[in-house]
Amino acid sequence: MEVSPSLLAADFTRLGDAVDTINHSRASMIHVDVMDGMFVPNISIGFPMIKAIADIAGKPLDVHMMVVDPIRFISQVRDAGASIMNVHQEACIHLDRVINRIAEAGMKPAVTLNPATPLVMLEEVLDNLEMVLLMGVNPGFGGQKFIESTVEKVARLRRMIDDRGLKTRIEVDGGVNQETGLRLARAGADVLVAGSYVFNSSDPIKAISTLADLS
Ligand code: DX5
Ligand code: ZN
Repeated sequence: MEVSPSLLAADFTRLGDAVDTINHSRASMIHVDVMDGMFVPNISIGFPMIKAIADIAGKPLDVHMMVVDPIRFISQVRDAGASIMNVHQEACIHLDRVINRIAEAGMKPAVTLNPATPLVMLEEVLDNLEMVLLMGVNPGFGGQKFIESTVEKVARLRRMIDDRGLKTRIEVDGGVNQETGLRLARAGADVLVAGSYVFNSSDPIKAISTLADLS
């Protein structure tokens, strides 16, 4: 299981230490949550912070854009150092164009679905995606309760991807812990994002390792 710890739950006065912890862990990516106060009712971090994180990150940045019309920010996300740019389907009127522009900018495109958005919204673009991110909570805040229907949604997406013989990875974000993570792993998830489970733990390296061992 791949793990992408979310810095949203880290101590922002010691963000460098949190990145360092992730660098020395079994995490395969670093999940960075960008919020604009419009797409979600919260504001988090922006490009100067992503750049600062990228400068010390020893793993690829998985940047989750919870913003309206993310096509506006593709070059800034790339210049800040992102490897994967995750955009919400609900935030893109011309999703196919956004995916193409992300790839042209040299990043790996990923599309995120809110809990209420059905998988059918990805049918026409799935073949062009590095990763699909399924939200396990309504985005905007860390530490929320996991929405149970996500497990079955992962299983259905697994079938869609396998039926097409694709390599697209399934990532899940929100409410992930050892217990929900196990069920998501068994349903076919490839990458688990975890914020509070990792950074509210007394031993974040061990928490990451626990998730990495799930299968
Ligand atoms: C929520 C963010 C998540 C958040 C997850 O809107 O996209 O990445 O950090 O936090 P936990 O793991 O605490 O649910
Ligand atoms: Zn996220």
